[in-house]
Amino acid sequence: MTEDRTNTEDAVRAQKRRAAESAVEAVSDGMVVGLGSGSTAAHAIRELGQRVDSGLDIEGIPTSYQARELAAEHSIPLTTLDEATPDIAIDGADQVSGAALVKGGGAAHAREKLVDGAADRLLVVVDQRKESAELDHPVPVEVLPDARRPVTRSLRELGGDPVLRDAERKSGPVVTDNGNLVVDCDFGVVETPADLGATIDALPGVLAHGLFVEMADEIHVGAADGVRVREC
Ligand code: A5P
Repeated sequence: MTEDRTNTEDAVRAQKRRAAESAVEAVSDGMVVGLGSGSTAAHAIRELGQRVDSGLDIEGIPTSYQARELAAEHSIPLTTLDEATPDIAIDGADQVSGAALVKGGGAAHAREKLVDGAADRLLVVVDQRKESAELDHPVPVEVLPDARRPVTRSLRELGGDPVLRDAERKSGPVVTDNGNLVVDCDFGVVETPADLGATIDALPGVLAHGLFVEMADEIHVGAADGVRVREC
């Protein structure tokens, strides 16, 4: 690895950590916190863990196997949506454009949508590379295994270019925490994400897609010189 690459990776990691720490400032005693997934949300979980260690009294609702394991490792008490409603959720994103997000890079978007959507406030934490003038990141779509081919056909008819997500360090496709498959669908620039999202939601066999529209309350963007917080 070259020195430049190391510096870049370190810089991005620092931006993610800054964004996560900024969002964690909004968490106070007695809150139920939705715990997001991915590398940026992981910084928030670690920071919350440190604060719990120092006496912060919260309960977390994880959005994935990864988030649950990390929370347990940091002794964050956990609860479920059966027992509590999150006051706040802190989660990452793959792309942010205005108030619209694309999520699901870690294939956790179905549970993220459930927990983030139930929360009174959703704080999104990203490094500055994730901000974009246009929403053009491929949209992850979680599908029941039996629905893969019909959904893929429908996504193509909608103008997308769907690709089954392959696993790394396992032969074959990614299998989600829910036992389903993920199709990443490139639509080019998505001009009307709410409409596209509603159309994909209506396809039989689709569990959830990664378009999160009008769900975020604040975007915390970690940059080289600090954090910008944008209200949505
Ligand atoms: C998990 O499925 C995703 O929605 C993540 O929140 C998203 O991919 C961002 O992950 P990073 O913070 O690792 O970029």
